[in-house]
Amino acid sequence: MADLSTTYMGIPLKSPIILGASNLVTKPAIIKDLEANGIGAVVYKSLFEEQIQLESLQLDEELTEYANRNSEMGRLFPELEHAGPREHLFNVRKLKESLSVPVFASLNALYEPSWVGYARLLEETGVDGLEINLYAIPGYFEIDAHLIEEKQIQIVKSVKKAVKIPVSVKISPFYTNTMNFIKGISKNPFFSVYS
Ligand SMILES: Cc1cc2nc3c(=O)[nH]c(=O)nc-3n(C[C@H](O)[C@H](O)[C@H](O)COP(=O)(O)O)c2cc1C
Repeated sequence: MADLSTTYMGIPLKSPIILGASNLVTKPAIIKDLEANGIGAVVYKSLFEEQIQLESLQLDEELTEYANRNSEMGRLFPELEHAGPREHLFNVRKLKESLSVPVFASLNALYEPSWVGYARLLEETGVDGLEINLYAIPGYFEIDAHLIEEKQIQIVKSVKKAVKIPVSVKISPFYTNTMNFIKGISKNPFFSVYS
C-alpha cells in the first residue's frame, strides 16, 4: 500500500485521514472500524464550557423547582451536583487508552482562566495534542473585530504556555483579516478551517 504517512501538530500519523471533532467520536464501534481501516487519528469532540455551565444551571433549577412547595423536596438530593467536565475527561481518557492511533482533544471555553484550566485537565488525560476550537458568536456590538481577535490570540498564547502537548487552532472563515490573525497566533501555525 502507498505510504500515506504525515504529521499533525508534529505527531506522526500513518494516514492524513482524521476523524474530526464531532459526535461520531462517541460511537466506539464506528471508531474501531475506522481504526481497522487505516484512519490516522481522532479528534475528540470539544469540551464546551458553555454547555457545562448550562447543564449545571439546569440541574440547579430542577433540584430547586419544588423546594418552595414542599420543604421535604429540598432535602431529597442535598448532595447532588453537576459533574462538570469529569464525564468528558473520562471519555477522552478512555478513547485514548482504547486506540493505537493518536487522539487529540478539543476545547471551547469562555474565559481565559477556564481555557487554561480545562486545557491542563485535557492534557492530563494523556491525549497527543489539543485543538483550540475558537468558535464563538460575538454578542456585543461595542466590541470590535480587532479586540475580539486580540483576546483570542491572548487565549492561544496562554494555553500554549500552560500545556506541554502540541496545540493547534481551529478557526471559522469569518475573520476580518485571517492571515493577520494567524500571524498573531504563531509563525508556524497548524490550522483547519470550518467549511
Ligand atoms: C454533529 C457535528 C458535531 C461537531 N462537533 C464539533 C466539535 O465538538 N468541535 C469542533 O471543533 N468541531 C465540531 N464539528 C465541526 C467538524 O469538526 C468540522 O469542522 C465541520 O463539520 C466541517 O468539516 P466537514 O466539511 O468535513 O464536515 C462538528 C460537526 C458536526 C456535523
